[in-house]
Amino acid sequence: TCHAHHYYVLDDPVIADVEYDRMFRELLDIEEQFPELISADSPSLRVGGAPLDQFVQAEHAFPMLSLDNVFDDLELAAFEEKNLRYLQSAVPLTYLAEPKLDGLAVELVYDNGVLTQGSTRGDGLTGENITAQLQTVQTIPLRLQAGNECSIPEQLVVRGEVFMPHKGFAALNRQRVEAGESLFANPRNAAAGSLRLLDPKVTATRPLSFFVYGVGNTDVVPVTDLEQLFVWLGQIGFPVNPLVKFCTSLKGVQEQYAHLQQLRHDLKYEIDGMVVKINDFTLQQRLGNTARAPRWAVAWKFPAVQATTIIKTVDFQVGRTGAVTPVAILEPVNVDGAVVQRASLHNRDEIERKGLMIGDTVLIQRAGDVIPEIVKPIVGKRTGKEVDIVFPDKCPVCQHPLQRPEGEAITRCVNSHCPAQRLRGLIYFTGKSGLDIEGLGRKNMEKLVQVALVKDIPDIFSLKQDDLAALDGWGDKSADKVLLAIEKAKQPTLARFIGALGIRHVGEITAETLANYYGSLIAVLAASKEELCEVEGIGDQVAASLADYFSDLSTRDMLERLLELGLTIREPESGNKPLEDKVFLFTGSLPAMSRNEAKQLVKGMGGQVVSGISKKVTHLVAGTKGGSKLKKAEAMGIPILTEQDFLRLVGRAEEETDDS
Ligand code: IVH
Repeated sequence: TCHAHHYYVLDDPVIADVEYDRMFRELLDIEEQFPELISADSPSLRVGGAPLDQFVQAEHAFPMLSLDNVFDDLELAAFEEKNLRYLQSAVPLTYLAEPKLDGLAVELVYDNGVLTQGSTRGDGLTGENITAQLQTVQTIPLRLQAGNECSIPEQLVVRGEVFMPHKGFAALNRQRVEAGESLFANPRNAAAGSLRLLDPKVTATRPLSFFVYGVGNTDVVPVTDLEQLFVWLGQIGFPVNPLVKFCTSLKGVQEQYAHLQQLRHDLKYEIDGMVVKINDFTLQQRLGNTARAPRWAVAWKFPAVQATTIIKTVDFQVGRTGAVTPVAILEPVNVDGAVVQRASLHNRDEIERKGLMIGDTVLIQRAGDVIPEIVKPIVGKRTGKEVDIVFPDKCPVCQHPLQRPEGEAITRCVNSHCPAQRLRGLIYFTGKSGLDIEGLGRKNMEKLVQVALVKDIPDIFSLKQDDLAALDGWGDKSADKVLLAIEKAKQPTLARFIGALGIRHVGEITAETLANYYGSLIAVLAASKEELCEVEGIGDQVAASLADYFSDLSTRDMLERLLELGLTIREPESGNKPLEDKVFLFTGSLPAMSRNEAKQLVKGMGGQVVSGISKKVTHLVAGTKGGSKLKKAEAMGIPILTEQDFLRLVGRAEEETDDS
């Protein structure tokens, strides 16, 4: 539990991932042999227990209230004025201003520090018991940690929000499109739907997260205001939103609102406003609640980020796996600071479900940094000139007949030579999820394919300087740069390489699983479908897709050409772990590489990377502008490396550019 806390909540693991996995498996083995030893806070609960028959009701000892809203500065000022009148005092009030998370409110009950019951809000008085589901949410502590000076109350009732970050939401919906399942409309629905599953094992696969925002029984906590409460909650193991802000006046609250509104689209999760709470518990108590909401708190929602525009036409795009996606081309419109001119319609059923036509005036919305979506047509605005959206029956690129397998939502071009699929596959191969070759992003790949310098993956590795330099707007410099990047990408790890191939149903995780299990490309190639099925974490569908792909003669041919062209697979698990037992901490920026690259390098060589200073750190790498960490490391006598020292240590010093 402790290591899991470091990893998931503090984002600062103190042991290597493999070591954690090993300990976790050992625990599962022991628990299987001796079920009586399974403790109420065993990390094994994270994977989800037996499915429930039905949900049981759970009463809240203290009602879970709703919040009243304010919509502008004036209403906020009125909120303060009313409270001051009620308190008959002129003392300045202090506030906490917090992001209003767009997820699901839950209550967690801890008895003697162990999570014993988790429930939904329900009608505020009675919710549903979803303890087993909540136990699978990695950032919800199963046991609280008594700190140096803080003891844990006999019973603690906390409230907070379970939510699904954008990235996980998008991945889940992608997976659901592939599986022909209906899509979740937004991250909130996805979070709610994931918690209300009878089988907690399924909940465990959903990317849920949690922030605490309050306590039901404040009489048992060792603090007297919310500001201190959050510090304490963090100390005993709860994830606290770092954007919670203490404000000494309404001016501060307003500034925080403007700040959050700006930040909103860059956050990893959806927020729909800000919650303003009076800080002091005594004042909260004196103000009390109305029937539905506390008087001491209000929600200040963001203005809606919806707009209306017109569907000009619908494009049909062919993806890497042949999936044909309808995309609405819109009359450009500004939605909350971003110009929107396209929106995915996902698939044929979605068009039908929404009842859209070309020429329709539609309501669109932008949620977080997620791609804009069409909510619905505004039927009242129809003129009679709208036309139906006709889904093509031939591939718009190669004219091959499209197929839609029974029970699937996706219509596909199944021509493996379809130029659109090829192009997408190539872009994927060189892109971020692939070998990540700088200079070979979407635009440049389109160009290279268009001028026929690249037709397939091996062509990338036989590109010539002259050919590249002669391209429109390229020249020697760009050509050299790209060739250097290609050269650097020639030694991927097995997992990265398999992932880059873009095999259907094979994402990063599956690629990693395969690489760990088989260890070499030859071994993966030799595996039959039946053998693949036996690998933990690889299902029938994935195994079939892999077997299909690797048994295809053109795949074999391509791989052979790649090896001839000098592609070599780097094998991290060959026992060559020069940085084993070494713990790195980075501070300041590294001009020669991104922090992420540096971390990957260390991890690839068996080392660990942490984000906070402790006695465990064996190397502090100080880039330019190393701050307080540097000072602390000096004081603690931890060896400090310059960027040059670091590059030398990891064998990258020769790649330095001498642009003096
Ligand atoms: S405090 C007594 N803080 O907003 C105060 N609520 O209408 C009750 N919410 O469904 C709530 N973020 O789930 C609070 N930082 C936050 C919140 C938050 C989201 C939700 C909550 C509830 C609704 C309140």
